Amino acid sequence: MSSPTPKTHVQVIGTGAYVPVQVVTNYDLEKLVDTTDAWITTRTGIKERRVAAKNQATSDLAVKAAQKALEDAKMKADEIDLIIVATATPDMFFPSTACFVQKALGIKEAVSFDVSAACSGFLFALDAARLMLENGVYKTALLIGAEKLSAITNWEDRSTCVLFGDGAGAAVLQRRPGPKGILSTYVCSDGTHTDILNVPGGGSRTPATNPDVVTKKLNTIHMEGKEVFKLAVHKMIRAVEEALRLANKKDTDLALLIPHQANLRIIEAIAIAERVNVPRERIFVNLQKYGNMSAATTIVALDEARREGRVREGDLIELVAFGAGLTWGAAVIQF
Ligand code: ACO
Repeated sequence: MSSPTPKTHVQVIGTGAYVPVQVVTNYDLEKLVDTTDAWITTRTGIKERRVAAKNQATSDLAVKAAQKALEDAKMKADEIDLIIVATATPDMFFPSTACFVQKALGIKEAVSFDVSAACSGFLFALDAARLMLENGVYKTALLIGAEKLSAITNWEDRSTCVLFGDGAGAAVLQRRPGPKGILSTYVCSDGTHTDILNVPGGGSRTPATNPDVVTKKLNTIHMEGKEVFKLAVHKMIRAVEEALRLANKKDTDLALLIPHQANLRIIEAIAIAERVNVPRERIFVNLQKYGNMSAATTIVALDEARREGRVREGDLIELVAFGAGLTWGAAVIQF
């Protein structure tokens, strides 16, 4: 016996995105490290990325995305009672970046906190917010994925500095009657791979006062690219399947699949996987413009897809991501 269809769903009622104005092309990177536009393009698909100004912190990007999402939702900031920011590059250890966003938006009282799940952060925030809105304790949530990865990039390491970019995306969520909304969220972590993708220094294990942090650049991204690549493909395929199963939908029902934008070859490996039956033209790609913006990636892509008219009323879409932790997750949303 199937369970009765819920009368209400948590709906995405507005989205917004902001990327910094400074564009750094592959040709700019050729002047910085021993690389070429041809290598970056063929190995990753990335052509350019955005880099925030020195005086812009993650919350500054987040606030601009949030304002656009509020405008899209036709809502005032003081109607928000829950703010979750997914980020791997918080303004400070504390207060949370969400509290800085709350202050900038002039929201007097709300529950504000950050989620740390690297590139899967927005999916983890979506899962938490869905449950918090579904149980009726909160009415309206502002979810943000925001990163200033340029602040933790080793600009002398060609194997990582070509991959990342800065940006922010936001969504306003509310529980409303009707069949539309978030049909499922699926998130998971596996802590046995903490060594293949991390920022090893600057935290409590090796504090910023340890001289190695600066001299050995331990406060920047360290990654075993090949290993991460393999696991990313495997876990994202699993996440696509799990979220669809939980939503009681099929991959052939999807109007658009929005995967984490880390590497075009990862996306192509998912597209040709036998277990994912979604044609390439229904897989959204914008990494050529922004690179990997970690937690900001999927929500910036969703906003862009909506504004390009690629998400229409009645469309079923799925977001899927993978990141350090390891973490992975997916969400199926009916628009
Ligand atoms: N330019 C030119 N050559 C390069 C560059 C570069 N920018 N970077 C690496 N190379 C060289 C390497 O030194 C190596 O040379 P060698 O054979 O002489 O040793 C050669 O290119 C091949 O290097 P690989 O690392 O084997 O290249 P690969 O094809 O695996 O591509 C990449 C590397 C792009 C990093 C890929 O492994 C990848 O995308 N991995 C996944 C990254 C990812 O998805 N991260 C997501 C999570 S991020 C987060 O959670 C914050």
